[in-house]
Amino acid sequence: MFASIPQILLLVAHLHLAATAYGQACGCSSVVVPVHVNTLLAKDPTDPFGGLESNATALRRLNETYDIFGVFCAPTEKTAQSIDVIQLLVHGFTYNNEYWSPKTEEFQNQSYTAYACDRGLSTLAIDLVGVGKSTRPTNASDVQYATDSAVVSQLARHLKSASIIPGVQPFNQVIGIGHSAGSVTLIHEAITEAERSPFDGLILTGQLIFQPGELVLSGLVSAREDTPIRWGSLEPNYITEGSRALFYPSDTTLFSPRMLVYDNFTKDVGSVSIVPGISISSLLANYTGPVAKVAGLRDQAICYNTGRCDDLAALTALERVLWPKAKSFEVVLTEGGHCMNLDFLADGAFSAFVKLVKQFAGLQ
Ligand SMILES: *[C@@H]1O[C@H](CO)[C@@H](O)[C@H](O)[C@H]1NC(C)=O
Ligand SMILES: *[C@@H]1O[C@H](CO)[C@@H](O)[C@H](O)[C@H]1NC(C)=O
Ligand SMILES: *[C@@H]1O[C@H](CO)[C@@H](O)[C@H](O)[C@H]1NC(C)=O
Ligand SMILES: *[C@@H]1O[C@H](CO)[C@@H](O)[C@H](O)[C@H]1NC(C)=O
Ligand SMILES: *[C@@H]1O[C@H](CO)[C@@H](O)[C@H](O)[C@H]1NC(C)=O
Ligand SMILES: *[C@@H]1O[C@H](CO)[C@@H](O)[C@H](O)[C@H]1NC(C)=O
Repeated sequence: MFASIPQILLLVAHLHLAATAYGQACGCSSVVVPVHVNTLLAKDPTDPFGGLESNATALRRLNETYDIFGVFCAPTEKTAQSIDVIQLLVHGFTYNNEYWSPKTEEFQNQSYTAYACDRGLSTLAIDLVGVGKSTRPTNASDVQYATDSAVVSQLARHLKSASIIPGVQPFNQVIGIGHSAGSVTLIHEAITEAERSPFDGLILTGQLIFQPGELVLSGLVSAREDTPIRWGSLEPNYITEGSRALFYPSDTTLFSPRMLVYDNFTKDVGSVSIVPGISISSLLANYTGPVAKVAGLRDQAICYNTGRCDDLAALTALERVLWPKAKSFEVVLTEGGHCMNLDFLADGAFSAFVKLVKQFAGLQ
């Protein structure tokens, strides 16, 4: 289940968005990092545990190199913390790196990368395999949590051992921040790598424990049927979510109506493995770094009207059991919805992320 020693080269790095509208003093660059993935996948792409509970006969080897696209942002004015710590930002299902920084002026307040930059913190927001500008394998069955788990693990090691762009030194600490399925990707990594994980802390947002079959998403549709003009040539196991409202608070005054339109037009794809594989979140991880889950009280997918976020102490006790060796474990409840970065309550989530990053990295 382990990826091979990474042999990662920096392929492309060019400056763009320098001194953009998002954040006063933030320099951002697009990067493409080739990542070699050599791991075991479930033969059944809809295995709820992504092969983690399977014996050898139910597994197959994936041995491929993928180009991973990302946007690296750092404060223009370097400080001890901006060169010491980087946040690796991992998007959720049907989103891509832009979840962390929507590319329109109107939604500049929804940019976590700008928010973090303003507070002296660097970020790398990536597109997972099959998504956005990263390599999209022809066969969607190759895109499983194990695939992306190997990718984020190797990227974190890369950030600690090599220069992400010329002039930027390797970082001493990498904090992983996931959203939804991106959090499940980090959990998969925390299970498979355990004490060897290169992550110095995990912040798992929009994600709580799900048992197999517990999460039912209506609106799942083959991407090629949903938007033929964009995705007509994709094989049917690349899917998307036709209905976006679940990702926002039920109270529609709490987000911009234009955000829903923007979200619908910029949504991305995932593979058929992603939704059933969310049950990986019900497995135990022997990861030894600090862990926090950040959930929105208005998250219609995991909290709102479910009762499970009503009692923070009970929720924390339930979730903590799966992290017996973690240096620390906490659950933070914020006011927002599932895509807590994209509603008017995002400030609460962003300040929670920054506080946790500083706590985990020993910056305060
Ligand atoms: C391996 O798993 C398969 C299905 O998951 C099961 O049918 C088979 O009995 C298992 N084999 C062994 C040796 O446990
Ligand atoms: C993985 O592929 C590389 C070539 O890309 C090959 O050298 C190596 O032996 C393969 N490893 C396995 C375990 O198949
Ligand atoms: C962004 O947030 C600031 C401070 O909370 C506020 O003054 C400003 O109006 C907001 N801008 C937009 C475009 O919503
Ligand atoms: C995708 O790969 C799997 C595993 O190798 C294989 O069983 C399946 O037939 C492939 N699907 C397509 C459409 O090629
Ligand atoms: C979503 O976008 C598609 C085009 O990609 C468009 O046809 C559809 O009307 C949009 N739906 C909403 C609710 O905005
Ligand atoms: C975690 O560690 C315990 C021993 O401390 C071991 O029994 C268990 O199998 C490990 N679990 C995983 C998922 O690695």
